[in-house]
Amino acid sequence: MAVSTDATEVGMVLEARGISKSFPGVKALDDVSLTVRRGRLHALLGENGAGKSTLMNILAGVFPADSGEILLEGRRVSFRNPREAREAGIAIIFQELNLIPHLTVAQNMFLGREPLTRTGLIDDARMNRDAAEWLRRLKLEVSPQTLMSGLRVGQQQVVEIARALSMRARVIIMDEPTSAITEQEVAVLHELIHQLKRDGVAIIYITHKLDELPLIADEFTVMRDGRYVGSQAANAASHDDIVRMMVGRDLSEMFSRTHAEPGAEVLRVASLHLTHPERAGDFAVRDVSLHLRRGEVLGVFGLMGAGRTELLETLFGQHPKRAKGKITVDGREVWFQNARQAIDAGVVLAPEDRKREGLVLSLSVAANTSLACIGKTERLGLLDAARENELASGYVTRLHTKTPSVHQLVRNLSGGNQQKVVLSKWLATQPKVLLLDEPTRGIDINAKKEIYALMDELIASGLGVVMVSSELPEILAVADRIIVMSEGRKTAEFTRAEANEENIMKAALPKN
Ligand SMILES: Nc1ncnc2c1ncn2[C@@H]1O[C@H](COP(=O)(O)OP(=O)(O)OP(=O)(O)O)[C@@H](O)[C@H]1O
Ligand SMILES: [Mg+2]
Repeated sequence: MAVSTDATEVGMVLEARGISKSFPGVKALDDVSLTVRRGRLHALLGENGAGKSTLMNILAGVFPADSGEILLEGRRVSFRNPREAREAGIAIIFQELNLIPHLTVAQNMFLGREPLTRTGLIDDARMNRDAAEWLRRLKLEVSPQTLMSGLRVGQQQVVEIARALSMRARVIIMDEPTSAITEQEVAVLHELIHQLKRDGVAIIYITHKLDELPLIADEFTVMRDGRYVGSQAANAASHDDIVRMMVGRDLSEMFSRTHAEPGAEVLRVASLHLTHPERAGDFAVRDVSLHLRRGEVLGVFGLMGAGRTELLETLFGQHPKRAKGKITVDGREVWFQNARQAIDAGVVLAPEDRKREGLVLSLSVAANTSLACIGKTERLGLLDAARENELASGYVTRLHTKTPSVHQLVRNLSGGNQQKVVLSKWLATQPKVLLLDEPTRGIDINAKKEIYALMDELIASGLGVVMVSSELPEILAVADRIIVMSEGRKTAEFTRAEANEENIMKAALPKN
């Protein structure tokens, strides 16, 4: 069933008609239309770089369209900035976190629309109270007065959600709100979505997790290469139908690993501890031991707060003072004081939060790709532009990164394609041990398979990989062995044959 875009249709709140938008070298949107209705959730789907975020940015007043029109409750509107869109009742949860680290949670939530006292000063008490109420509804247990920088990526994402909800908009755009949050947080968000729908709010929802659709979506639209492919009622299409619309062909079977015999041990960790950054006397990582062989993928599963990210950071030399234990790389004992030493020894970490730690957004794809190699080999010095370009082009081809050229600024790539540049940057250092923290966050279904295939190829060439993922099917598909963490401890270890969703989840749940 095609969803009608007839303006007379009841309940229509927001309509985009024939929107086009070009950036230098890219036609990001070509005559795209979308209709959202009161009390409905309209999912917007498509591969990385399809143009989803661009369309949402136009609806939210971030930048104008080149052509086409936007109708709000049947009236033509044009927003010059996000504030005008917000005042018209359109709120957006941005894909990339836009929060300011040195402000508090409440200050971030009410930035630019702070409640004022009668004398015109910012009413901090009220702001903190209102923020606390939204955090409570979202079941996020942090104080509204905590600095944003003290929060994990997933928690920051929840604050971003709270910010949009607190605007009480009639249209809420959610651009991959669930890519960085835990399953419990997803459940809370889904519950709130049902509530918003009952209150008559219209929602546009972007996700790469198609399993979410039956739970929340009423209808969906698929985009491909900046063009409108089609719209359907959510219950009228199967998972395979949707994937076919997204990629324009049938996808072959799910990824499977080739089973090469792993080689010699490349990493050993004995009794690693990391003290907790805030709670004195407590540990973020507690007595964790593990080993990794060449040609092997070790999966690390855990819920938020389990210490997975902290474990990887410690191995990458990020906490030399707060950590203790024994780390051996290729038979040699090491204790990295910083990331540089780790990189030089062949240990690299592709972090979870690419914007903060993985990439320099104001530099090109080429510059970012060679960023971590600089200083490692003289031949790859900053000035050797030809080599830099050649290196970057190689990875663009290998990972199918969608960019008009290696000179494009990373800021201008879509979220999923930025993630591919993060991987390229670390692969370019030719590491022995690759630590991956949520490597396929925000990556579309097809690109995920490409990344798994790439990992497979790297493993065959002798790399050892430690991969943290909160997606169980991903861990089960990719890892040779799996360790499970809970509250800083290693609570279980399984071979690929022993592991299943149930025993992993059981080991991941906190004991009290
Ligand atoms: N400011 C910009 N300058 C240049 N190109 C841009 C800019 N913003 C987006 N693009 C390009 O427009 C295209 C569409 O990007 P967009 O971010 O809308 O994709 P998306 O569908 O949201 O993908 P993802 O699932 O990876 O987030 C991409 O090729 C991207 O590189
Ligand atoms: Mg996007």
